[in-house]
Amino acid sequence: MSSKLKTPIYDLFSPENLLNPYSLFKKLRSEHPVYFSELNGFWILTRYADVYEALHDERLSSNRNQLYINRFHNIDINAVNNFINLASNFLVEADPPEHTTQRKIVLPGFTNAAVKTWRSTIQETIKDLLDKFQGKHSIDIVTDLSGILPGLVMTKIFGIPEKHRDNFIKWALDIGAFWGTPDSQNIQAIASQANHSAAYFSALIKQIIAERKEEPGTDIISLLIAAYEENGIDLNKLPSSCVEILIAGYVTTTDLIANGVHALLEHPEELQKLKDNPELINSAIEEMIRFDTPGPIILRIAKEELCIGGKNISQGSVIALALGAANHDPEKFDSPEVFDITRSPNEHLGFGKGIHSCLGAILARMELNICFTTLLRRMPNMMLSPEKPPIPKRENLIFKGFHSLPVKF
Ligand code: HEM
Repeated sequence: MSSKLKTPIYDLFSPENLLNPYSLFKKLRSEHPVYFSELNGFWILTRYADVYEALHDERLSSNRNQLYINRFHNIDINAVNNFINLASNFLVEADPPEHTTQRKIVLPGFTNAAVKTWRSTIQETIKDLLDKFQGKHSIDIVTDLSGILPGLVMTKIFGIPEKHRDNFIKWALDIGAFWGTPDSQNIQAIASQANHSAAYFSALIKQIIAERKEEPGTDIISLLIAAYEENGIDLNKLPSSCVEILIAGYVTTTDLIANGVHALLEHPEELQKLKDNPELINSAIEEMIRFDTPGPIILRIAKEELCIGGKNISQGSVIALALGAANHDPEKFDSPEVFDITRSPNEHLGFGKGIHSCLGAILARMELNICFTTLLRRMPNMMLSPEKPPIPKRENLIFKGFHSLPVKF
């Protein structure tokens, strides 16, 4: 009899839910909108209103360092010192008042005015990448385009000399692999790689800082040096800001381009509408972010005991804010399962909200705008490759995208 009253067990990480979390999100939202997952050890919020409020709730902390440290149980802490030095100063992990100060310092690098100065660099980078496809009739959107573009753009706007660009990206991705990925079997190897890469990354940025102090430019590192000095912040912390910006902006943009191409190709009427009305591009991009959110879940920690949706949540609990579920809540969006590039209003939470809302949103929107406009102009006949099915990511719900998305044109 008691089993009837028991809360059902939903496996957020089952292979089918990782592949397509939207039906699970729908079930959770209607049956248990504030749900404690015994399997995963965290609460999950799936209603737009709850997620929106949680993003603005000062009783929730973004400092998830303890979660990451928990993964160190069988790792010698001294063996990851370089990594810890670099990762302990991340903006996205900070709460006010530190967050307020840190954000003020990096903000000048990401304003409308700053991002505008990179427009031609982004255009040129995309043009060069697409030029390489001349004479070809098939490519993989991920390995040939979306997995390369954000790194190329970022190294250029950071002003990284060409000879260091590949390493710069590789080191940042090694660090990101250890920082953001849940426990895995080869965590020791990932940790060791991240630690080595953290040392190399810091050394390179310090070398570039010395050069830019002599000869400042308009790149992000020069802007950050000026902001750090103006606010009396130790420049030794600058490599941390650089790696965070790279990690935060790389995988998300890669995933969004692939998710967006996939959504368009799966909805030929919407694709045709966009080809006929290129001025719909900005609205289409917002819909791509809403429809298949690249970061479907972000985590917070309860700083004190609190009550959400009638459920008592104890201090220290981990709470997953399901941005992807909120973006499909019928209370907020009409026909949320419909991909509609003219959707208006479209107040999705794909870039977060509140004090941690995406710092790189203006840059991401510009990059996506140029990328999709150029793609549609140069490859108007693009279609999914019938011979090679896409390979979606299935590792976790922190990043949702594709490992491979073959297309023909
Ligand atoms: C489509 C691409 C992107 C998506 C979907 C995305 C999404 C997000 C989300 C959801 C957050 C909030 C995290 C939280 O509240 O815990 C965030 C924060 C952040 N994003 Fe993005 N992002 C994108 C691109 C970028 C780019 C291109 C950059 C930088 C070049 C960037 C830099 C950041 C930073 C630094 C933060 C932390 C801000 C803070 O804590 O104050 N993002 N992003």
